[in-house]
Amino acid sequence: MRKLRVKSSSGGYDVLVGRGAWRALRRTKGYSSTFVLTEPGLWNRWGKKFSREAGVPGMKPLLVPAGEASKSLMWAGKIASQLLDRGADRRSLLIAFGGGVVGDLGGFVASTFMRGIDYVQAPTTILAQVDSSMGGKTAVNIRAMKNLVGTICAPKLVVSDPCVLASMTPRAFRSGLYEVVKHGILSGPGLFNWLERIVPGLRAKDAPLLETLVVRAAQVKVDVVSRDEREAELRQVLNLGHTFGHAIEEATGYRRFLHGEAVAWGLLMVTRLAELAGVLELAAGKRIARLVRAVGPLPGITGVREERVLGLLTRDKKAVGGKVLWILPERIGKVRLTSDVSRDAVVRAFREVQRGEWNA
Ligand SMILES: NC(=O)c1ccc[n+]([C@@H]2O[C@H](COP(=O)([O-])OP(=O)(O)OC[C@H]3O[C@@H](n4cnc5c(N)ncnc54)[C@H](O)[C@@H]3O)[C@@H](O)[C@H]2O)c1
Ligand SMILES: [Zn+2]
Repeated sequence: MRKLRVKSSSGGYDVLVGRGAWRALRRTKGYSSTFVLTEPGLWNRWGKKFSREAGVPGMKPLLVPAGEASKSLMWAGKIASQLLDRGADRRSLLIAFGGGVVGDLGGFVASTFMRGIDYVQAPTTILAQVDSSMGGKTAVNIRAMKNLVGTICAPKLVVSDPCVLASMTPRAFRSGLYEVVKHGILSGPGLFNWLERIVPGLRAKDAPLLETLVVRAAQVKVDVVSRDEREAELRQVLNLGHTFGHAIEEATGYRRFLHGEAVAWGLLMVTRLAELAGVLELAAGKRIARLVRAVGPLPGITGVREERVLGLLTRDKKAVGGKVLWILPERIGKVRLTSDVSRDAVVRAFREVQRGEWNA
């Protein structure tokens, strides 16, 4: 098991990664009661094991339906009133046991319930283990706007046990791996070269290897958020591939692609864009494309309407005054933030990747 440390304005917290990480919950003392926010399917599959290892007496589950729709003010309200009904007070602890949806919702409820109670992240998807559980960003969606309302509030602790990844569907597993590829590009040759070696044969049940993968990819997030908790500048690099990715997700009504799959297409497009803008080292584009493809098959992108995607780019949260702030890879381990990219290049990058004309 490995311990990473996030520095934050509230003092910082540990991120424990590895088999047995849940046992660290035994050390959480002094709470009047402990609640676990989770989803029914996940709790059925893992609840017993989690409860046994966490060893917190009288832990009470609170269930929300699986899926992004639960990240809502309505569900935040329901959870808060259930907490109240079941005896929670200012000294209660909330554990978010689930993927990014449960983590974001749980963090939001904890940071606002009675003006804030402590919470712990126990992430159960790759995305949550390497990304969303760390950094303290919490949120709910309002209508179609993702993460419109939220807080920044650090968890007390993050406990990631990769054993839970064994129950992910192969598709959801791959979807998370695309985000790991993103971390590899941001991090540098150490992680990237290693991913090139292990990704082609990686399986969700390969526990020891996954443990190393989660540790190494989570470290990238820890480093970024430890330096920049409020996303002034540095934290934006984590959005690599997400400008195109979010637009593609929205253009297809969030039905055709899982989030990581849309990000994978976004990574390919933004890498091509960096080439066209003349900022990317020559051989790097090929390697990035090859690693994205090595994760496995992506749902096709033909038929996704170009005008729709391009129109949505300027609605990105990072866009200022209608200008998109692009995060372009320069080489493995370095990105550049710039708005100085021609519309022609953006159109070309989208088209060439969509038509399979670039490193397909
Ligand atoms: N707070 C942040 O910094 C941050 C960063 C990135 C993403 N996010 C948010 O994270 C969310 C996406 O997270 P996600 O990809 O984990 O989605 P998710 O939480 O919806 O989980 C994906 C699916 O996997 C299922 N699942 C979870 N754990 C499982 C397991 N161990 N075995 C089998 N199935 C399992 C869930 O029921 C769900 O159907 C989005 O809402 C996004 O906005 C937040
Ligand atoms: Zn993402």
